[in-house]
Amino acid sequence: MYDIPFLDIPPLRAASGTVRLPGSKSISNRVLLLAALAEGRTLVHEPLQSDDTRVMLDALCALGCTVQLAAHGALRIDGLGGRLPVQQAALFLGNAGTAMRPLAAALALLAATQGGRFELSGVPRMHERPIGDLVDALRALGCDIVDLGRPGYPPLRVEGQPGGMLHTGRPIPVRGDVSSQFLSALLLALPLVSQAQDIVIEVQGELTSKPYVAITLNLLARFGISVAHEDWRRFVVPRGSRYRSPGEIHVEGDASSASYFIALGAIAAHGGAPLRIEGVGSDSIQGDIRFVDAAQAMGAKVQAGPGWLQVSRGAWPLRALQLDCNPIPDAAMTLAVMALYADGPTRLTNIASWRVKETDRIAAMAAELRKLGASVTEGQDFIEVVPPHRWQHAAMHTYDDHRMAMCLSLASFNPLAGHTGSGGPGLPVRILDPRCVAKTFPDYFETLFGVVSAEPADVPVITVDGPTASGKGTLAAALAARLGYHTLDSGSLYRATALAALQDGIAPDDEATLARLAAMLDLRFEGTAVVLRGRPVGDDLRREDVGSLASRVAALPAVREALHGLQLAFRRPPGLVADGRDMGTVIFPDAALKVFLTASAAQRASRRHKQLISKGIQARLDDLRVDLEVRDARDKSRSVAPLRAAEDALSLDNSALSIEESVDVVLGWWQQRRPFD
Ligand code: C5P
Repeated sequence: MYDIPFLDIPPLRAASGTVRLPGSKSISNRVLLLAALAEGRTLVHEPLQSDDTRVMLDALCALGCTVQLAAHGALRIDGLGGRLPVQQAALFLGNAGTAMRPLAAALALLAATQGGRFELSGVPRMHERPIGDLVDALRALGCDIVDLGRPGYPPLRVEGQPGGMLHTGRPIPVRGDVSSQFLSALLLALPLVSQAQDIVIEVQGELTSKPYVAITLNLLARFGISVAHEDWRRFVVPRGSRYRSPGEIHVEGDASSASYFIALGAIAAHGGAPLRIEGVGSDSIQGDIRFVDAAQAMGAKVQAGPGWLQVSRGAWPLRALQLDCNPIPDAAMTLAVMALYADGPTRLTNIASWRVKETDRIAAMAAELRKLGASVTEGQDFIEVVPPHRWQHAAMHTYDDHRMAMCLSLASFNPLAGHTGSGGPGLPVRILDPRCVAKTFPDYFETLFGVVSAEPADVPVITVDGPTASGKGTLAAALAARLGYHTLDSGSLYRATALAALQDGIAPDDEATLARLAAMLDLRFEGTAVVLRGRPVGDDLRREDVGSLASRVAALPAVREALHGLQLAFRRPPGLVADGRDMGTVIFPDAALKVFLTASAAQRASRRHKQLISKGIQARLDDLRVDLEVRDARDKSRSVAPLRAAEDALSLDNSALSIEESVDVVLGWWQQRRPFD
């Protein structure tokens, strides 16, 4: 997950491969609640692990439910059988509407009949998202609900005494035209109190987002409760309802999350192979699966089977679309971004619910697409997007809305826009606060970068060169962490070659054998671990004898040549920070920013000394300094790729700077070179 202030995505040109989707948010949170209310134990397979499900789980645990992690990320939930062991709790529900609404309903009913006092609150935006229609329906039933802030919005307190009575005998009216979550919340909660008689719900106004209510009904059935309805207007929760665990339940992949990859296939899978999406498919119970139809109408070629989709580009440019999006409110946001690549204006209508989601999505989408150069018209319940004539650089606000961030990432395919579709010059896109995707898809960007490709020249590189022990590696790693970029510690490639040579007993001057060894090096970088020949070798690589031999093998031209291609392969989206001796001069001469570190030999020797002592390794300062100077001399005087600053490098004497100070200096330089204000 990218927990950084911004993520710059370079211009992207193609997509291929396979993605596995995280579990559906809507299904996960409903299943977690049902499993907690049910009798018996439920094993929930492949639940979504994200901010929204974490707040639900935390709340269920605070209410006395036992949740255990089982194998392969499954959750084992021991249900409460409709009786709360806890009478009081304060629940923080973040910005999760799928937790707030059903928990408010369930706890209001439980407090009213069994007694209790529960507070429900969230982040500031949650307190701007309406819940009044649900509260009205619950109050009409006889629940005691106190507004703790603005009436009609969270935070709320629900309370009651044991033995309280509810007016379940008459139909309960609930508005259906603001959010279907009010109806879903009642449907999920009312079986708690329908022992004696049928309970009828009457929807007022046209029911919005029916497919989400269909998911609710489907899952209720899995937990033993069959709710009948007449044309989505009148629902009957049958008398004698009891939630019963189905034992095990699988959560399918998130169909709304699939929309980004369906769009990706439609826009960028043009190389002959489709993009494969695993986790949802033709058997999905989620309404947003119908996004497939909309994407096909815009030109996507889609094949589907149970649990999978395969998508590739069909029509190009995409075909402009006019669509009533009421059945697919969340995924429809993705159409607004596909519209950037269409052959005319795209108009999405009946989307008033966008205005009461994580942010006012109509206003947010209009503002951000305009920044890219699109002409956008918005109304209370529609948006119309005309693709840009000329794309513009833009730093995209994401409004703490996961879907805004995921949608806007697709603007990175701007080089493909226009009639050729094969690629012109492109613009990078900055996504502000990319962490907000954690609401439903914490690894969204990693998943995206796993299946896209860019022109190497478009992928930004920062090089950090300098002598031994100048702090290159530390600086490079810190920069990469702040920018979300990959790292290349090129010294480790020479060290690994040296270690392998020691293992195989190869003479330090046997250039041909060493070069063959380097070319065939079985070396992998797994997170922070370096694995050579199947064994983690992080500590061995730092050995002084290995460093010394590395500096000797690094002077051999054939060895350097053998490692050249391997280093170039690290240049992958979203970007790279590479450290070494010749990163800016030989390997990445077109790097966007080159830094050359120039700490004095005395400083560097003292740093290394402290480092060794802290690891309990004895060393003499004088010896270290002599050794450093010998290595520097060899690195500077060798015939190939000698250590020197590139002409266009910026020098940084970090002798007196802390790591944070050095990072800030370099990030300042970097920001100046980026096209974003
Ligand atoms: O940076 P580090 O000390 O890990 O590098 C080990 C050796 O590899 C250095 O002494 C240097 O001689 C060599 N090296 C190089 N070119 C690079 C990186 C390291 O010659 N880009």
